[in-house]
Amino acid sequence: MTTKEKILAMLESNRGQSISGASIAEELNISRNAVWKAVKELQKANHNIRAVTNKGYSLSEDSDILSVQGIAPYLLQKSVTERIYVHDVLESTNKTAKEMAVSGAEHSTIIIADRQTAGKGRYGRAFHSPQGCGLYMSLILHPARFNFSTPTLVTAFAAVSVCEAVEAVSDAAPKVKWVNDIFIDGKKICGILTEAVTDFESGNTQWLEVGIGINFKKPPEDYPEDLKQIAGAVFESEDVTATRNRLCAEVINRVLDGASYCEKEMLEKYKKRLFMLGKTVKVTSATENYEAIAVDIDEIGRLIVRKENGEALALSAGEISIKI
Ligand code: BTN
Repeated sequence: MTTKEKILAMLESNRGQSISGASIAEELNISRNAVWKAVKELQKANHNIRAVTNKGYSLSEDSDILSVQGIAPYLLQKSVTERIYVHDVLESTNKTAKEMAVSGAEHSTIIIADRQTAGKGRYGRAFHSPQGCGLYMSLILHPARFNFSTPTLVTAFAAVSVCEAVEAVSDAAPKVKWVNDIFIDGKKICGILTEAVTDFESGNTQWLEVGIGINFKKPPEDYPEDLKQIAGAVFESEDVTATRNRLCAEVINRVLDGASYCEKEMLEKYKKRLFMLGKTVKVTSATENYEAIAVDIDEIGRLIVRKENGEALALSAGEISIKI
């Protein structure tokens, strides 16, 4: 860690409280002037640090710049910090995750960006990823480290993890639209794009990148026109009572708990969050459009729908789009 990172880590672990320049200097074995210089650099990078004469430095409770040091205090497995990479801007965290996976990145490597210039959604759509108000992250997962019978369930697992993480930091009650969209009060607040790399010869999945995009708070410039009716945020009003760093850690804690996750329990939790079961949905596939009732989720995460003529179909994600 650099001096700047060490100071940020101390301030993040003592949010809202003052730490004297002298005690930081002593702890890090550097001069008070070096502390002051590092603090200036952190302030330049928009960390809301107050310097008060005779008291020292304190990081404001509402300072919310994504950083490994800001995420670390909330992590259950502290060693994960070694594999977290936070960027100001990336084209797409999934793209970077793929490049890192190809170069041998370990299971549970996590790439985070404050902004994406080419955020990817499903069906080749773009994912709007403005600066300072969202959380865009990709987790590299090696299937051998998970209990799942099929990699497709990882998306459902990620959706449950995000819902529980959102509940841990807010009063919201998130719901899931099959397969991977998360809604609060009828507005989409999160999308998940899971991509896999499969060995051509064996057909085995080598690794997965679970890309999670969460609208944390409403962008100051509002949503683009085409998203205004659809998009929402975890904190849609001015009253933001958590930080993106905390939400990020809550998501990581849950997703990385996958090795001890019971598939049956997870699917039950997933089903309880689905707001479409029992409702009529419009199904669009490559070959036909029809209306059907969404009746269940099967053991590999497919949506079971019943057509008007009584025919039941198991739908796989990626093949169809669903409207309610
Ligand atoms: C969707 O709603 O269609 C899925 C959106 C997934 C967006 C996330 S943001 C982090 C990761 N990087 C990307 O480029 N996409 C995913």
